[in-house]
Amino acid sequence: MQRDYHSNRSFDRAARLLLSTALALTWVVAAASAQTPNVAATPPMGWNSWNHFACKVSDAVVRASADAIASNGMKQAGYVYVNVDDCWQGKRDSSGVIQPNSKFPDMKALGDYIHSKGLKFGIYSSPGPKTCAGYEGSYGHESEDAKQYASWGVDYLKYDWCSAERVYKPEQMPAVYKKMHDALAATGRPIVYSLCEYGLKSVWHWGASIGGNSWRTTDDIEDNWNSMSAIGFAQNGLEGFAGPGHWNDPDMLEVGNGKMHHEEYVTHMSLWCLLSAPLLAGNDLAKMAPETLAILTNPEIIALDQDPKGAQAHRIWEEGPYEIWSKPLADGSMAVGLFNRGEDAEKLTLRLQDVGMMGSVTVRDLWGRKDLGKFSGTFSTDVPRHGVVVVRIHQ
Ligand code: GLA
Repeated sequence: MQRDYHSNRSFDRAARLLLSTALALTWVVAAASAQTPNVAATPPMGWNSWNHFACKVSDAVVRASADAIASNGMKQAGYVYVNVDDCWQGKRDSSGVIQPNSKFPDMKALGDYIHSKGLKFGIYSSPGPKTCAGYEGSYGHESEDAKQYASWGVDYLKYDWCSAERVYKPEQMPAVYKKMHDALAATGRPIVYSLCEYGLKSVWHWGASIGGNSWRTTDDIEDNWNSMSAIGFAQNGLEGFAGPGHWNDPDMLEVGNGKMHHEEYVTHMSLWCLLSAPLLAGNDLAKMAPETLAILTNPEIIALDQDPKGAQAHRIWEEGPYEIWSKPLADGSMAVGLFNRGEDAEKLTLRLQDVGMMGSVTVRDLWGRKDLGKFSGTFSTDVPRHGVVVVRIHQ
């Protein structure tokens, strides 16, 4: 009995010790996760107002976009962030707190509306005194702005260099971006932190270390084949810098904005998904053709972007205007894009050994949504002009 009693007491002591250690650890983990919110484990998906609406964005436009995502299948496909880009800002009040302009009567109410749809709310600012469109930036008000965003329920901040070049030296860029990261972390609210600096200062080398969840690798995209393809196909070589929590961002989607053909938008979506890029639709979601919605929501293409391994594709072969890119996936299969940047349809051939596949493999066409059967040695397919065939290959 005595021994049992003692052993019970020592068990109690051990349990208490374990409990207090666990509590202390929870505190440490909580404090650490306040510094580095566990967001963007896969590339963020959502919508952003800029590519279609630019400064014509308003509360009504943003609500209509949230309504569309919640009801047209995009939410089920994974789109969650509803992001207001530039041109929402008004003046600061007498205590220096930023207020929206008259097109956004109540930011907290807008955030609540977006959240009521099961979606998340994104906003935009600049580390400079002015944004790119000349609105109020966060310069000298970083902490107040982060607190104001958190009070509105903001879940995502795009922070755009713009006029910061007038007040900072280029080498200060990492410290300037870290300042806002720390201000966001201090609010205790998990907020995706999206760096927008057009690829300056080789941001991929330092973006993750200062708390960035994504960083722009290029200048602004435009809704045309030359711009989109120049940006997309130039991403080769950056694959080593992307991974869960921190992504290369070749800019937002132009799918459905009207200046590219169907095949070109399919190429755009395919390339961005192979690249593990953030998927921020940039079209008018309330007035979208079914064909556009189908491109944006193909579940097998989105699964490549959202694959938990988070490996960004790289180019494994090119000859003239023809390129083959591959992306290893978490289940051991391989995603491959056979791209035709040329002006005529062309048959392209993948040597399976170039993607580490030996013997007989099965191939599935992800846009055709069909199994193509077994192949060994090579896989060949016709690829339309400015088009792509995307396959998933299992050993
Ligand atoms: C820059 C960014 C764009 C957009 C505009 C807004 O050009 O790169 O994505 O945010 O500013 O003014």
